Amino acid sequence: MKHLIDPTDLSVQEIDDILDLALDIIDNKEKYSEVCKGKKLATLFFEPSTRTRLSFEAAMMELGGNVLGFSSADSSSATKGESVGDTVRVVSSYADIIAMRHPKEGAPMYASMVSGVPIINAGDGGHNHPTQTLTDLLTIKREKGRLGNYTIGLCGDLKFGRTVHSLIKALVRYEGVKFVLISPNELRVPDYIITEIFEKNNIEYKEVTSLEEVMPELDILYMTRVQKERFFNEADYVRLKDTYILDKSKMKLAKPDLSVLHPLPRVNEISTSIDEDPRACYFRQALNGKYVRMALIYTMLKDNGQI
Ligand code: NCD
Repeated sequence: MKHLIDPTDLSVQEIDDILDLALDIIDNKEKYSEVCKGKKLATLFFEPSTRTRLSFEAAMMELGGNVLGFSSADSSSATKGESVGDTVRVVSSYADIIAMRHPKEGAPMYASMVSGVPIINAGDGGHNHPTQTLTDLLTIKREKGRLGNYTIGLCGDLKFGRTVHSLIKALVRYEGVKFVLISPNELRVPDYIITEIFEKNNIEYKEVTSLEEVMPELDILYMTRVQKERFFNEADYVRLKDTYILDKSKMKLAKPDLSVLHPLPRVNEISTSIDEDPRACYFRQALNGKYVRMALIYTMLKDNGQI
């Protein structure tokens, strides 16, 4: 059985196929409105979510399927002390596919070892978020018309931000992607990303602290929120949370065809005054998340012989 735990569980070809399917779904919604009829998606969210959970649920509904699940650990038997393993074993006898988010790194991987149905990692701690990566790739493809040959700036909390870690792993597989890592020193990407991913694959990257300085060279700017819930103390969070605020004056330094992405939720890091700038892609990106999850659910159920 095939699960999606890490973005590299999908080959470049498989990702291409999912993105192409998402584009076909966008153009031909009717054609897909019943393809998952009678199937059930369970969303097991042990950590809060708006976009990821609701877009998964909307995706399954638009494929003609049904959804069940819980939206916080508080409303599940986790509060009674049930293990993730037991929860997943039971839910996999109720549902055909499971999307799971958990604050502990590795929890969805563990779930995949005891589940009778495919598991999709919907975010595990500061580790991975493969369906956000698919969302980001579909957005880059739609906005730029290509998945390689550009300079991307990743800005904000590069230490705890799982969307950044996942996206880097996926993007290094395309030709000509240059990375500019913009963060305060305390929030630099983890060492394994530098040594195991950038250096091992001879990828061009640089680490900087100033966003203004690199703004003119970027084709894509991926902004992120400082991950409050993963900090060990409040004082550090307060000190670092507003390090970068993308506003009109910084946008003036940028290329006319820059694409600004953000996985959302946004806190202060992007001023609302640039929401109407055509270069701001984050709300289109959130909608892409629904279409790419439709393509993913349909593909996984088909590949596992469930439809
Ligand atoms: C992200 C996450 O959960 O990692 N949100 C999302 O899924 N769109 C980003 C974040 O919470 O900052």
